[in-house]
Amino acid sequence: MKASIDKLLRHIDLDSATITGATSQQRRLSDLAGCFVDVAAYDALLGQGDAEVYSVATPEGPDGAGDLAFGLGIVQPGRVGDEYFLTKGHYHSWREAAEVYIGLGGHGGLVLEDDHGMSQFVPLAEHDVVYVPGCTAHRTVNTGDEPLTYLGIYPATAGHDYAGIAADGFRLVVVAGPDGPQAMPRADYLKNLQVKEGHR
Ligand code: F6R
Ligand code: MN
Repeated sequence: MKASIDKLLRHIDLDSATITGATSQQRRLSDLAGCFVDVAAYDALLGQGDAEVYSVATPEGPDGAGDLAFGLGIVQPGRVGDEYFLTKGHYHSWREAAEVYIGLGGHGGLVLEDDHGMSQFVPLAEHDVVYVPGCTAHRTVNTGDEPLTYLGIYPATAGHDYAGIAADGFRLVVVAGPDGPQAMPRADYLKNLQVKEGHR
């Protein structure tokens, strides 16, 4: 069956952060409780206003077996304490479902983790393509000073499991260090914060 062309061809407008035919979902600071390590910095920033951290625009499309879905993600620049603005992050409900991220603008990366102790930060900038294997939790982080924009393409039946990673949290955090952005164990960042707190 021949689908009409408006279902086959979409256009991304980076200025308005939209794709034709897509509805956009905004995630604000208040939606990200528990995602940042520095709770005092999170509360202080939220006290100044409930800023948008990111949005995802996902066009309606076929969602059966074998179909693909895609979303335009835009993470705003910013930090909570030393930790850069990020997405919630998720496993796919269909655990084996992989995803391809294509960088469209800005600078940042993906935190990738699995249940077997694998943890890594993979850069994502304009023209980068990152393959996110199945069974891998993934989160996007904007380490730059302009919006990080990307397209994620995944099986339409993948689904999103946020709770699977939120329970224990990602083990890696991406923070502003003395020499620029650096990925470090969350436990180390937390320890540094407690030491600083103890010195106050
Ligand atoms: C889809 C996907 C991306 C994310 C987007 C927002 O499977 O990985 O389109 O949905 O980066 O992140 P989350 O969904 O974690 O809020
Ligand atoms: Mn995904």
